Amino acid sequence: MTMAVAPASHLSPTMARYFERTWTHGEGHRLFDAEGRSYLDFACGIAVTVLGHHHPGVTAAIKKQADQLLHVCNALGYVEPVSALAEAIAATMPAPLDTVFFGNSGTEAIEGAMKLARRTTGRPGIIAFQGAFHGRSYGSLSATTSNPNYQKGHGPLLPSVLIAPFPDVYHCYGGDEAKATSEGLAGLRKLLDEAGPESIAAFLIEPVQGEGGYNPAPIAFLHGLRALCDQHGILLIADEIQCGYGRTGSMWAFQRADIVPDVVCLAKSIANGLPLGAIVSRRELQERWGVGAHGSTFGGNPVCCAAGLAVLEAIAEGDLVANAAARGAELAAGLQAIAARDERIGDVRGPGLMIGVEFVVDRATRQPNGPLVDAILQKCADLGLLILSCGVEHNIIRWIPPLDVSSSEVQEALGIFTEALGMFEQALAAV
Ligand SMILES: Cc1ncc(COP(=O)(O)O)c(C=O)c1O
Repeated sequence: MTMAVAPASHLSPTMARYFERTWTHGEGHRLFDAEGRSYLDFACGIAVTVLGHHHPGVTAAIKKQADQLLHVCNALGYVEPVSALAEAIAATMPAPLDTVFFGNSGTEAIEGAMKLARRTTGRPGIIAFQGAFHGRSYGSLSATTSNPNYQKGHGPLLPSVLIAPFPDVYHCYGGDEAKATSEGLAGLRKLLDEAGPESIAAFLIEPVQGEGGYNPAPIAFLHGLRALCDQHGILLIADEIQCGYGRTGSMWAFQRADIVPDVVCLAKSIANGLPLGAIVSRRELQERWGVGAHGSTFGGNPVCCAAGLAVLEAIAEGDLVANAAARGAELAAGLQAIAARDERIGDVRGPGLMIGVEFVVDRATRQPNGPLVDAILQKCADLGLLILSCGVEHNIIRWIPPLDVSSSEVQEALGIFTEALGMFEQALAAV
């Protein structure tokens, strides 16, 4: 299939694009371009299509709901799939997280959560963490420091959003988790003391940083964060938009630390590609937020929610959280083996199917090697594998395959990745 006009002619150049390819359709874990080439899709529309493309259960649910009712604003009353999805999401969460507000995207979920925190605590301050990505609207952007380009020239931003150091184990603490935890918590306490804890409504954190570089927060740091919240009456908002929904080998990334946040933000995987986001908290909190405090015309669209129900059914039926853990271990082992013989890789990290492979100029200085990653991504695409990068210098390859990925697909991807690495002039060092 060829296009009559150049595909970019009337599209905004402000949207950064990984590939200059035109996509036509998807089937299972394969994406197809306009030239008829097929790609093993480990990009998943940036961690969205957790069940791959044209999933029979999701497609059937969408078609059935589209035939029945496309839209009625949630302000008009109730629609069965919307109420059912809220119930199903609540069932995946630990008590007392049982109440769901639906929006359209991750950014909107963060925006709403920040409003909820301010209004229910009566405090203005939100503390987010260095390197986080929470979205691009003014509230969420004010908490987003994963890349200076996102905030640059867009100010003034939202006041009272403070940025604490993130306990970045690889980049700042040479792999020492205990030190990252103690210094991270010390930095946070200092910021809290300076601001006055009574002025802080919430801490906002990605339990595993996504866009910032696939940096997991140490478990002990998350414990410390929860304890500080309890001590000072501060709400803990977990941004699970990229790391949630089984991606890390547990349903929610915060469960890896066995903590319960006060508010959880979801989006991306929730409807396998249809726009939907959610804010989840205990009921009492959203009651105190108050009727009419927040709303949305499209949020909780019935078709999106029907798709969302099909996603949760498929995750349960296929035991896909366990699959993410098992396939993630295989993928991590394969990537570790490659890293063991390739000096250009400085680190392989991350739980489950959320793995970052960091490329450096040399391991001692950890100086990022973004250009090499850009070249590898393009080479992998040429060879039929879609993977993406992250990190401010885009020197980290992020591995986010579908949750129902198979062992043979993991091995296929590792094979293509190895082949692509071998095609660059610095050949793999001898084993
Ligand atoms: C952790 C995290 N939070 C928030 C967002 C914003 O979500 P959306 O692009 O759906 O607005 C993203 C998107 O990449 C994300 O990864």
